Amino acid sequence: MNGEPTKLYGDLIRVSPMRYVVPSRLDVNYIKYKMPIYEDDLWIVTPPKCGTTWTQEIVWLLLNNVDLEAAKINQFYRIPFLELDSIRGPSSEPYQKDLEMNEENLHHFESNSFEFAQSRPRPRVIKTHLPLTMLPNKLLDTCKVIFVARNVKDMAVSYYYHHKLIIPVDFPFKEFATVFKNGAILQTPMIPMVLEAWEKRHHPNMCFNTFEEMKADIDGVVGKLCKFLGLKLSDENKAKLLKAVSFDSLKKNKFVNKQKEFDQQDPAKEKVFIRKGMIGDWKNHFDEEMNAEWDPWIQNQLTNTDYSMIFE
Ligand code: A3P
Repeated sequence: MNGEPTKLYGDLIRVSPMRYVVPSRLDVNYIKYKMPIYEDDLWIVTPPKCGTTWTQEIVWLLLNNVDLEAAKINQFYRIPFLELDSIRGPSSEPYQKDLEMNEENLHHFESNSFEFAQSRPRPRVIKTHLPLTMLPNKLLDTCKVIFVARNVKDMAVSYYYHHKLIIPVDFPFKEFATVFKNGAILQTPMIPMVLEAWEKRHHPNMCFNTFEEMKADIDGVVGKLCKFLGLKLSDENKAKLLKAVSFDSLKKNKFVNKQKEFDQQDPAKEKVFIRKGMIGDWKNHFDEEMNAEWDPWIQNQLTNTDYSMIFE
């Protein structure tokens, strides 16, 4: 890394050069310089709340001949989230790799995600919210990477509700938005992470998608992913897949909707991870004053790039 990480608050640190916010217990140097990667790895790299889960389900089904029966196991087991344990906090018990991968043991595997993800049989599919700059140096020259972006206002709104699932006290969106804009929320800043991947969009190992593209033309994005992964999809399987990954299906799918994960944290609260799935929910959350602050802030970051965000 360029320079030592700086301490933020709690156990969070900012890692140069992007000042990306991660828990201090994440072994950032191991990931960047030592972590083994393989040419048959597939990495799903996204800022949080940009359609990661949706993309994971599509990708898993594509790689597994749209086997909806085999998909009936928690998505985490199928495509593990590399750094989840650093976010969750250290596991209270030693990692038992031979435990059965079932719903009951999910928490154990999630609390040991770093080891679990790395030790998956090849070809591995790994999800991460870390920016390319924090991932293994040769990642893109070695493995395929699927990136998913979203407009930052909808992403922030979605992330606010995600935090509300976890944090027991109530707090207004405006407060969250201020901290977000100050780059002090876990797994942000988002725009630099997106721009970094956008610059690599023509790399043969990079497939760059957006939430808005997926909403507008899921058929097209599935076609693009097939081409990228070198797969053919029959019309029948395509219809099956599109139905299985629709908003309504995923919302009801207990292997995907993370009901279990959030239930463990506070069973009393209603937990909705697959929430609205729309473009433009930010309009229901940003007042005039916030737009006046955010719009130039976004614009400044996108000036001198050919990247634009779709807000409606
Ligand atoms: P909202 O909170 O705006 O509804 P991630 O998986 O990266 O955390 O992203 C979660 C966001 O993707 C949530 O956004 C969720 O509702 C949305 N999402 C998940 N599956 C979807 C689908 N099939 N169609 C549309 N949006 C979906």
